[in-house]
Amino acid sequence: MANLKRCVDEETRTNEPLRGIYIKSFAYPSLKDRTPIILTSIIDHLSREKENIVKQRGDVAREELKTVIGSISKLKSELQTNKPFSKIQSGGPGADHYNRLIDEKTQRDKEAPTWYYTEWLFAECYLYRRLREIFETTKSLQDYDVFDHQKTGVYFGSLQSIKDATYLTLKTIERLPSLNEEQLKKLVIDFIKLSLWSNRADLSLSGGQVEEQASICSQVDALDKNILVDDSDKAYAALTREPVNGKPKILDIILDNAGFELYFDLCLADFLLSANIVTQVRFHPKNCPWFVSDTNPKDFHWMIRVTKESEDEALKTIGRRWQTYVEEGQFTVETNEFWTLSSDFGRMASEAPALYSKLGQSALVIIKGDLNYRKLVADVNRPFTTPFSEAIGAFHPNRLVSLRTMKCDVASGLKPGQAEACAKINPNWIITGEFATIQYDQPSTL
Ligand code: F6P
Ligand code: MG
Repeated sequence: MANLKRCVDEETRTNEPLRGIYIKSFAYPSLKDRTPIILTSIIDHLSREKENIVKQRGDVAREELKTVIGSISKLKSELQTNKPFSKIQSGGPGADHYNRLIDEKTQRDKEAPTWYYTEWLFAECYLYRRLREIFETTKSLQDYDVFDHQKTGVYFGSLQSIKDATYLTLKTIERLPSLNEEQLKKLVIDFIKLSLWSNRADLSLSGGQVEEQASICSQVDALDKNILVDDSDKAYAALTREPVNGKPKILDIILDNAGFELYFDLCLADFLLSANIVTQVRFHPKNCPWFVSDTNPKDFHWMIRVTKESEDEALKTIGRRWQTYVEEGQFTVETNEFWTLSSDFGRMASEAPALYSKLGQSALVIIKGDLNYRKLVADVNRPFTTPFSEAIGAFHPNRLVSLRTMKCDVASGLKPGQAEACAKINPNWIITGEFATIQYDQPSTL
């Protein structure tokens, strides 16, 4: 039985970070039900795939798999019994960050952080860092991505929707020379919205279940009523500003999920390159398996390869275009450890200054998804009417836009009464991904 005596039957208190200690918050059921399911499904997968893995990675993997499965079961039991966090022993990327925070929180709270009592964002990031540690301490499984089959499954499971996006992108690119400004603007915004709605499903929300993604291409306009803040006009204006001193116009995309979502991000990028609105797109994935479905560099390259090798002519065409963009440097993939720390983005300027200033060079920074949103607003339960630019604290590297379907209980920039109206439609409105926000900010100096 979990040691949860201090959990209280309340919502997250105002201006406090989300924590599993609040039973009526989303953090509590997520830690109690969703996260153990994710760990169980990893164990099941490894047990099922054992012989295949041994075939590919040699006999040493047999013993190591036993150890890995044992360690994941132990991790799950630590979570379920709300045990104190142990230090990351393996060294490796980010280990110091997590260990330092464990020390700092222990000093602050006079006890070591535990799963339900510490900040939920820290607990979740720490969980994925522990998983990474389990694999990085093996010889044969260091680069094994335990979520790989789910990420590739999302791509193949959503092929119809992916085909629709491909036809739409290629057809729209063909029409580019005949478009007037108004039409171009509408299309750019449509592609931004497709990239937004592609975030609706993610594997950590569905407990790792791969569900077929309905086609969103035909629904863009109909879904507008579910966009609670729509700053797409401002994002368009930022993208189409005259380049300074004829410098190349870069777009940064802080990626979220692989497969389905990534496909729509690439369609948006391709459209903006083809329309000469930007000259380069820098993609920022995570560099290890993260929150089940998050994109790693290999997922990015894998998707382009299978698209290029598809039997469908349109997929083949777009896959080849994307491969050429990679080869010629219009698409670049840039990794940084910062994305897999537990830090909110307000800490980027001091913890990853080079990344912060790099993001300052582009025309626009697109920040995808729910977890990135939580990091933008430091995962604090502010009144939902708090202005977005205030909620993101010290993070003002550049013109930026967050594209987020709402999957957990933080929000900002809503109008008075908006949250209440959504709650009447669905009491769980803030965690289901059916509502979304497009929120823009720019530094006061620009
Ligand atoms: O588990 C926490 C969480 O941020 C959820 O709120 C969300 O379902 C998921 O992780 C990640 O969502 P996304 O892939 O959009 O970042
Ligand atoms: Mg994700």
